[in-house]
Amino acid sequence: MSIAPISLLDGIASTRAIRRYTDDPVNEDDLAAMLFAATRAPTGSNRQTFKFLVLRDGPVAVEAKAILGESFRAGWQSKRSTDQYDRTDDETSAKARMARTMQHFVDHFEQTPVVVLACVLRRHGGLADGGSIFPACQNLLLAARGLGYGGVLTGWHAMVEVELRALCRIPDTHDIAATIPIGVPQGHHGPVRRRPVRELVFDDVWDGAASWAVDPPGTRFTQAGPPTATGATDPNQYLGAASRKSSPLSTKSNDLGNPK
Ligand SMILES: Cc1cc2nc3c(=O)[nH]c(=O)nc-3n(C[C@H](O)[C@H](O)[C@H](O)COP(=O)(O)O)c2cc1C
Repeated sequence: MSIAPISLLDGIASTRAIRRYTDDPVNEDDLAAMLFAATRAPTGSNRQTFKFLVLRDGPVAVEAKAILGESFRAGWQSKRSTDQYDRTDDETSAKARMARTMQHFVDHFEQTPVVVLACVLRRHGGLADGGSIFPACQNLLLAARGLGYGGVLTGWHAMVEVELRALCRIPDTHDIAATIPIGVPQGHHGPVRRRPVRELVFDDVWDGAASWAVDPPGTRFTQAGPPTATGATDPNQYLGAASRKSSPLSTKSNDLGNPK
């Protein structure tokens, strides 16, 4: 695949969650480059407590994708109703478009060319362990973007973790921190939309205005954000209740789904 080179900063600002993939395979050299990037990430004391289990098209991978597919469909079904994705009649709204993307994502999960299970040695639990795996996940996604692929960090393995561990022989010493599907995007990457920097960056003290921290001209923003009185956002929205205590994602990951 010939891909126009992109600067590091542009890559960071335009690596979106990609959930729809073409049938094109992920080239093995590209996959190796992505995993190389992932394993270059920092970890506490450089212990490199991460392992990446790559599911491609072997017999175990096919079975694992089928197990995950069921779980992803259940996860989305639950989120769809909890977050009231069907409340609007406007088929063109951001939420309706997001719902269609999500439905396509989970309905075609088994056809995802590559699924990476990002695992981390359980040492301290919670944020401390998460800190030694999530930078690697982002490296993986950035490398994918740089090579013309796309993916998304997800936690919808939690409901089938026991089955998945047994099938893939993942030892109890390690947590599955994230499931990351990867493929050639059907759509395309583009500028990510977040809240204005001034809402997210403080100077000196909590709530201290950082007047120097400004968004570049032309930056577009998202409405997704902290819970409101009318539409509370569960920080653990992607996880089944039973899994919220144990998964690294159950720490204060204030992911907001960011429909677009
Ligand atoms: C900790 C975390 C957990 C996530 N879990 C899921 C998930 O279970 N399912 C999913 O489809 N996306 C999941 N996402 C992807 C986010 O919804 C996505 O990154 C976010 O909405 C921003 O999307 P954008 O970069 O395209 O704007 C997760 C992301 C993070 C960082």
